[in-house]
Amino acid sequence: MSDELKRASAMAALEEVRSGMRLGIGTGSTAEFFVRALAEKVAGGLDIIGVPTSERTAALARELGVPLTTLDETPELDLTVDGADELDARLQLIKGGGAALLREKIVAAASRRMVVIADDSKLVETLGRFPLPIEVMPFGLEATRRAVVKVADALSLKGEVVLRMAADGSPLVTDGGHYILDAHWGRLPDASGLADRLAAIPGVVEHGLFIGLAKAAYVAGPSGVRQIAV
Ligand code: 5RP
Repeated sequence: MSDELKRASAMAALEEVRSGMRLGIGTGSTAEFFVRALAEKVAGGLDIIGVPTSERTAALARELGVPLTTLDETPELDLTVDGADELDARLQLIKGGGAALLREKIVAAASRRMVVIADDSKLVETLGRFPLPIEVMPFGLEATRRAVVKVADALSLKGEVVLRMAADGSPLVTDGGHYILDAHWGRLPDASGLADRLAAIPGVVEHGLFIGLAKAAYVAGPSGVRQIAV
């Protein structure tokens, strides 16, 4: 997705931000445009407080002077703005390409409203083109992976479930100290049913299916930004 489209969707979401708001601040390259634009507004006098969804976002926000708090200090948020790897017309999402899905979901769930910023290449009819990230405990990794594969078998989903690796060749470790399995299952016709089954596996900390969390999306394309709302 081009930087112009990322910026356009981020700017559209920024229109929802008002002084006094408690914000959840997403992770990823699109969310980064939001953080930069937000920081400019803050420098101009906008009075907000933000909860970052990753160490990466926290570092950028701090560097740019965006005031931050924690969910423990501010457990209820007004608005979360975050990117997504994939979304459908019902605003079901796949997230976790940036390995931040656990904090992203906790923050989104603590928010009165979550809005997604994305370009139109991420809008799909049925989720699943993007491999589904599943955050798991390092303890019992292989047993958890097998349980995940069993769920896939029960739902006739075929494809590899692979451990995400870091650049140095070791397993990628999330901000929460967990690993990520990427499930290459293709189309997920019953994302909600799959979400329930994955959540029930001991060892699965969280999965990247965000169902019923996003209330709107700002989807940028060549002819402008359109809002999808549910
Ligand atoms: C991180 C995420 C991101 O929101 C998602 O990966 C989109 O990132 P980008 O805006 O860079 O495409 O879920 O865990």
